[in-house]
Amino acid sequence: GTVVLAYSGGLDTSCILVWLKEQGYDVIAYLANIGQDEDFEAARRKAESLGAKKVFIEDLRAEFVEEFIWPAVQANAIYEDRYLLGTSIARPCIARRHVHIALQEGAQFVSHGATGKGNDQIRFELACYALYPAVQIIAPWRIPEFYNRFKGRKDLMEYAQKHGIPVPVTPKAPWSMDANLMHISYESGILENPKNHAPADLYLMTKNPVDSPTSPDVLEIEFSRGVPVKVTHLKEGKVLTTPLQIFSYLNEIGGRHGVGRIDIVENRFIGMKSRGIYETPGGTILYHAHLDMEAFTMDREVRKVKQGLGVKFSELIYNGFWYSPECEFVRYCIDKSQESVEGKVQLSVFKGQVYILGRESPRSLYNEELVSMDVQGDYDPCDASGFIKINAVRLKEYHRLQGKARSK
Ligand code: ARG
Ligand code: SIN
Repeated sequence: GTVVLAYSGGLDTSCILVWLKEQGYDVIAYLANIGQDEDFEAARRKAESLGAKKVFIEDLRAEFVEEFIWPAVQANAIYEDRYLLGTSIARPCIARRHVHIALQEGAQFVSHGATGKGNDQIRFELACYALYPAVQIIAPWRIPEFYNRFKGRKDLMEYAQKHGIPVPVTPKAPWSMDANLMHISYESGILENPKNHAPADLYLMTKNPVDSPTSPDVLEIEFSRGVPVKVTHLKEGKVLTTPLQIFSYLNEIGGRHGVGRIDIVENRFIGMKSRGIYETPGGTILYHAHLDMEAFTMDREVRKVKQGLGVKFSELIYNGFWYSPECEFVRYCIDKSQESVEGKVQLSVFKGQVYILGRESPRSLYNEELVSMDVQGDYDPCDASGFIKINAVRLKEYHRLQGKARSK
């Protein structure tokens, strides 16, 4: 049979490629470009030299931003109050093209190098089953003949040497990384002890705020339907208007000022806690800017309902249910809520922080006259007395009965 392997160019998936060939499969290598720093042509040559029948290198950056990151921005998607889901949101994007290639090439099998303990295997495979129901999945890290043979990096290196797989010359960082346009994640290795601090040189996308510029960058972000459509640097006059340019520029500015670093312990879907370190510079700027524009333009009660949907959406993304009916429904509702989220937010990026400076919007629900301390507006202050008294009915009753209970 033919198998399409999600190939990264690294040691693990190179060994998997050769091992699949050894098992008798024709192997097609698929490498998604979602903005990670990688020599894609070198990876192509490597896959070919290892015996891949075909190699697909797919530039998914624009669709990753427009179809995956933007809905996350609209939702203020955040997992367990801190993680902006940079890895989680990339998986359905990568898997969708993976499945398309498998169908197009008539491959019955797909394979990946995710471990048997993580979230990625779930995200990846749920997406494959959803979009290609008859697919057969080969997850080597869950196959005893594979994981018993490759017990550690040493076994992989030995196997590589034996099979002409180029072995990495630079020593591996003592942790595992996952990089894309939105973020880089770091986990396992020396980070597995949650007490160990991350070394200062771990971060690749963001500067340490200690060494970041001593003056801020001031930006204006314009939103339409809850997504950024224009970013202007207010001093330098630089203007960006395509989704990919906008997001990359926000990464550059956020990275320069050390924005979006977190170190957390999170709950994996599989039922264990794991320690992860993330840097999400552009995503963090957008998170703050979008929250501000939403608060300015969205009805209070709609916002509450929408906030709950955002929590649900985040959990669905994290757990791998992007291609589920409930996720489609939630995404649709969140998108609907964004009709009014339009306008410009000015903000300053400085020393690891995003400071909102001001905002304006044609759809603003803010009524300066209504709220002003200086003018009456269409509002009768006397009405507030009744409003407060009616609200106090319940409180009076509660405390009266509490007092009674105490005096017993
Ligand atoms: N814990 C994060 C998540 O589940 C990051 C996973 C990193 N994945 C990886 N293959 N290194 O989204
Ligand atoms: C992996 O286990 O492959 C990476 C971590 C995760 O998926 O949670």
